Amino acid sequence: MQLLIPVAFGQEQATKRQLQTLGFEKAPAENGRIELTGDWQAIARLNVFLRSGERVLIRLARFRAETFDELYDGVYAIEWERWLALDSKILMDGKSVQSKLVAVKAAGGVAKKAIIRRLSDKIRSGRKTFTETGARSIIGVSIFKDEVTVTLDTSGDGLHKRGYRSLAYSAPLKETLAAGLIDSSFYNPDRDMEKPFADPFCGSGTLPIEAAMKALKIAPGANRAFDFEAWACAPKTAISLAREEARDGVLRTAKPCIFASDISPEAVSIAKYHAKRAGVDKAVRFQIADARAFTCAQKYGVLISNPPYGERLSDTSAVQKLMREFGQTFRSLPDWNAYILTSLPDFERYFGKRADKKKKLFNANLPCGFYEYFGKPPKDER
Ligand SMILES: C[S@@+](CC[C@H](N)C(=O)[O-])C[C@H]1O[C@@H](n2cnc3c(N)ncnc32)[C@H](O)[C@@H]1O
Repeated sequence: MQLLIPVAFGQEQATKRQLQTLGFEKAPAENGRIELTGDWQAIARLNVFLRSGERVLIRLARFRAETFDELYDGVYAIEWERWLALDSKILMDGKSVQSKLVAVKAAGGVAKKAIIRRLSDKIRSGRKTFTETGARSIIGVSIFKDEVTVTLDTSGDGLHKRGYRSLAYSAPLKETLAAGLIDSSFYNPDRDMEKPFADPFCGSGTLPIEAAMKALKIAPGANRAFDFEAWACAPKTAISLAREEARDGVLRTAKPCIFASDISPEAVSIAKYHAKRAGVDKAVRFQIADARAFTCAQKYGVLISNPPYGERLSDTSAVQKLMREFGQTFRSLPDWNAYILTSLPDFERYFGKRADKKKKLFNANLPCGFYEYFGKPPKDER
């Protein structure tokens, strides 16, 4: 099958690296998605193990359509009887960019009509009404420059929904973004389990929890369900084998060195709760603390944080002051690497140091900078 993995802007390289680790070498990235081929076992493994892709789609067809008739014919030509059942709950999802068919909702309606017609012609001739009481199938119709791509979403809920984060606290990071940021940092517990990781603005705990899951090799999708599991066309063994592989891979006795703190006692208690649900509570040391007092006895650590943004005008000067003071704190750890995700304009000026590298990213549609500061490496790595 042709598979597509949508990835957030700026996350392509981190996701490609994860794919390579999973054994998917040929996976070119284009227009915010990665393409690869695979069978049901590959689909199950991708859903269970991928840390920063958004979902796993099967590409069913690609064709040109400038009119609704062409769209209808192209969708009708797909062998829907192979993928769907008579009672499938069909949800349409779509987008259109630089194309003649601009009305996305109408295009979805036409595509759904073609699907139902095909099912009624091929599975039970003449049947017009469908109860849609069965398993959910999300069909994507995305049109780019008049080229239609029709997909079937094997994940269902986005892959960021790991299942551990049930409580909200102040602008949490999407889990897939957090995992991508960690993967593009120097935090590499495979090589050095003892290397310290810290998030002194941990909020609901996403970054330290994702770091701990990476260190302990806990598969992000091991404890949730995916839409394809309920489909008759997918062999049941695929997901059970992937879950078994995930269970066998966990490093149960490993002891990573992960620190998480926040000035808010409520945030820390929520983060602890989430860590317990993710099975990493013993791997993360939580503390209620002001980031401006952050210090660590261990050297060569990795700090990744998204501090408060100060989006409201009244907060901006407080955040600028906080970043200035936090920048001073960070300079007392010259061998640490810091990675800061923020939408604060002129961040480097307040932090007091020009970043060694910076990337543009989006956090919940908000344009942000990801500022990377590299500490003095140990002698043997210099
Ligand atoms: C944008 S949120 C972090 C969200 C987090 N990454 C998550 O996924 O939930 C910023 C956090 O910084 C915390 N904070 C604000 N000022 C702080 C300070 N001086 N020291 C430590 N934490 C602070 C807030 O309580 C808030 O939880």
